[in-house]
Amino acid sequence: MRPFTTLCLILTILPTLVTPQSLSDLSARSLDSLLQAHAFKSLTDPRTGIPYDGHAPVSLDGVRISAVRLRSGSLRTRGFIKFKEFSIPIGVAEQPYVERLVLVYHNLGNWSSLFYPLPGYDSLSPILGLLAYDGANLPTQNLPELDLRASEKPIVIRFRDLKLGQNGSSMTCVWFDLDGSVEFDNVVDGDVCLVTKQGHFSIVAESIASSSPPPPQSIGARDGGYRKWNYGEWWVIGGCVLLGLLGVLVMLVKKWREEKRIGRLEKVAEGSVALETRDFGGSKVPMATGTRTRPVIEKNE
Ligand SMILES: *[C@@H]1O[C@H](CO)[C@@H](O)[C@H](O)[C@H]1NC(C)=O
Ligand SMILES: *[C@@H]1O[C@H](CO)[C@@H](O)[C@H](O)[C@H]1NC(C)=O
Repeated sequence: MRPFTTLCLILTILPTLVTPQSLSDLSARSLDSLLQAHAFKSLTDPRTGIPYDGHAPVSLDGVRISAVRLRSGSLRTRGFIKFKEFSIPIGVAEQPYVERLVLVYHNLGNWSSLFYPLPGYDSLSPILGLLAYDGANLPTQNLPELDLRASEKPIVIRFRDLKLGQNGSSMTCVWFDLDGSVEFDNVVDGDVCLVTKQGHFSIVAESIASSSPPPPQSIGARDGGYRKWNYGEWWVIGGCVLLGLLGVLVMLVKKWREEKRIGRLEKVAEGSVALETRDFGGSKVPMATGTRTRPVIEKNE
């Protein structure tokens, strides 16, 4: 049994070493700080008010980031009209107050549903993120987000290239707060969401497949501790169970054949010797009834 157990152990551990498990284990919040650090790298000696596209880690191919540094006062009095899909009106302020702030933009592309799963809904656009940081010192890592709030007019997000095509189901704006909570709101103008805070945003439609979608409470689970086994690992586990069963079967057959062979040998031995026992002063002693190979008197002619 030992070799099978060892083989199974190796097979189970191997995929966790080979596949980049670390990425799917990454929580949405650690993704935020990872992207913050990478976006800030693109701001070497930045011009105020100019967005700089950054480079997401190569392991997150498909994620796009950008960063812009602004004077806090100008954001409040003039806003910032064009930052990718976001349009920031006048009257947006950060908490706590900083002299200069950096807005970081995320487009999570094909990674969206991995970091922001929403069971019961189909996403019609990638997840877009807008996060604010203190821009006093560049570059910096592990910065906490500032609390960004629109007081007079909402921040406008005009989504591009919505994946339309499923008719009848109503589109909804979805907002993921940094603490993991989710809120829904109406879509305006066909492709616009109006928001008052920072976070991650998308437009979704109720899945036609699931008539009664489960409440999206489970979102917080993406920050939770347990990791689901993927299909590959299930295959390995299934394979191991089969291998184990096969091993047991082979051993049973081997044992059975061995027993049968021994049994046959014993029978042969008993049958050919066929010793009789006789009483000899109370104890049974095997006695040969006669000489088995009878001497043949050779005739000398
Ligand atoms: C997203 O697409 C890129 C290539 O375009 C790929 O390397 C990456 O693995 C994809 N990510 C996911 C989560 O499928
Ligand atoms: C949705 O349905 C309306 C009519 O009910 C139709 O005019 C429109 O083309 C449909 N759109 C799509 C994307 O199927």
